[in-house]
Amino acid sequence: MTLRLEGVSHAYDGRAVLRDVDLELSEHRIGVIGANGSGKSTLARTLNGLVLPDSGRVLLDGLNTRRHAREIRRRVGFVFSDASAQIVMPTVAEDVAIGLRRSGLSADEQRARVDAVLERHGLAGHRDHPAHLLSGGQRQMLALASVLVTRPEVLVCDEPTTLLDLRNTAVIEETLRALPQQVVLLTHHLDALTAFDRVLVMDEGRVVFDGAPAEAIAYYTALMRPDADTGHTASGGPRPDAAGAQPDPGAEAGPRASGGGLRP
Ligand SMILES: Nc1ncnc2c1ncn2[C@@H]1O[C@H](COP(=O)(O)OP(=O)(O)O)[C@@H](O)[C@H]1O
Ligand SMILES: [Mg+2]
Repeated sequence: MTLRLEGVSHAYDGRAVLRDVDLELSEHRIGVIGANGSGKSTLARTLNGLVLPDSGRVLLDGLNTRRHAREIRRRVGFVFSDASAQIVMPTVAEDVAIGLRRSGLSADEQRARVDAVLERHGLAGHRDHPAHLLSGGQRQMLALASVLVTRPEVLVCDEPTTLLDLRNTAVIEETLRALPQQVVLLTHHLDALTAFDRVLVMDEGRVVFDGAPAEAIAYYTALMRPDADTGHTASGGPRPDAAGAQPDPGAEAGPRASGGGLRP
């Protein structure tokens, strides 16, 4: 199961938001960090065809999001920051069940699957409660359950804990950690990424660092310092000047198809 971005660029109203991004995403746990407006959400949305790139292509095991959006959306689940925007049915169980309506499963099978997911995610006691009465943390867990019930192979989570308190953040992050699925997590909660396999740092529509969590977090932290030199060099990438944070441009961060390390 590999997601591949090839020369992906995208603009809104003539303003470039993704600039020639090449990535091969096959690791189990991939983090994406970057300032507000750096293009994280747009990148994430290209992964399941919610955004079709202006140029380049996004492939899931060779299926192009431009031509196979439905199949890809079935295999790549998406969780947003604001769970309320994702909850569409009145009760908890109905909201989880709605994703199965075209699954071909019998009513009994659907009910069993819904109940199992509610049980696993601590929502069984809220089965028939109005979804809007859940707490913020429970609502996010419901949004997650409603996606997981469809058994996607990849879960893309766009800042799923941004609106949550510390405790609920920890609960959601622990849930994500335990999933068998591949997870692509966009977050400002850097602590969540320490055990990840790979972390991408985005800046102005580019992946400016791609490597191990500690190095990526150091790179990003240096980039975000108020006194950091945010001037972009002729080669396009910012060069935060912090000891230990700057990867050696000559040393690749990993054997990735996209090159790894600091991207030119
Ligand atoms: N639907 C849209 N229409 C117009 N501009 C958008 C839209 N979505 C995002 N943008 C702009 O694109 C840039 C990147 O946004 P986004 O991908 O959401 O970044 P991030 O998730 O890193 O904050 C921002 O300047 C944002 O305002
Ligand atoms: Mg975003």
